[in-house]
Amino acid sequence: MTQDELKRLVAQAAVDYVRKNAPQGSVIGVGTGSTANCFIDALAPLQGHFCGAVASSEASRERLESIGFKVFDLNEVSEIPFYVDGADEVDAGLSAIKGGGAALTREKIVAAVASRFICIADASKKVEVLGRFPLPVEVIPMAREHVARRLKALGGEPKWREGVITDNGNLILDVHGLAITDPVGLESAIDHISGVVTNGLFARRPVDLLLLSSADGVVSFV
Ligand code: 5RP
Repeated sequence: MTQDELKRLVAQAAVDYVRKNAPQGSVIGVGTGSTANCFIDALAPLQGHFCGAVASSEASRERLESIGFKVFDLNEVSEIPFYVDGADEVDAGLSAIKGGGAALTREKIVAAVASRFICIADASKKVEVLGRFPLPVEVIPMAREHVARRLKALGGEPKWREGVITDNGNLILDVHGLAITDPVGLESAIDHISGVVTNGLFARRPVDLLLLSSADGVVSFV
């Protein structure tokens, strides 16, 4: 199977899951990226099930609206039973690296509001130790070099993702060379650097249900 077929397979599994488990008339939280796009496309027949969606990026908001979904501002919503999104890496403890699409801050906010975070990915995203995928960090522009120095002191090699401006008007530093054996500790340490908006570790609030696709089908981890 191609990677696109694996993404569509796991996206359909997530749609089947929310169809069975999300209350009628609830709001669905929707992530960002190519796997999340497959989820949005597969979600179209469920419009009657949900009163609308909250999106973790402008790109996902536009895609949801293009298939006719009402998209709420998060400030209008107090309960999101399920947030469905992809990831760049997930470990056995269901901590994840996200932000390859630069949407990490809004993703983390929507995940914080959601009761359950369902992560959808193909099996290549499951790793023993997080960090081979460079860890994205969203940074206030004037703090870029300060934050880069602090990230170096933590043992990483930050590289500015030049040309990318987040939906919040900030920059992304991608931190290479980390072997993240303490995701909760590193997430907190990076968040404490002045000028950091957020980082792509989802460890203090990890994934609740991981759906992983391979040629053998979809397997779930809790
Ligand atoms: C965007 C993300 C994505 O969920 C992550 O990058 C995975 O993307 P894809 O499904 O395209 O592999 O965190 O900020």
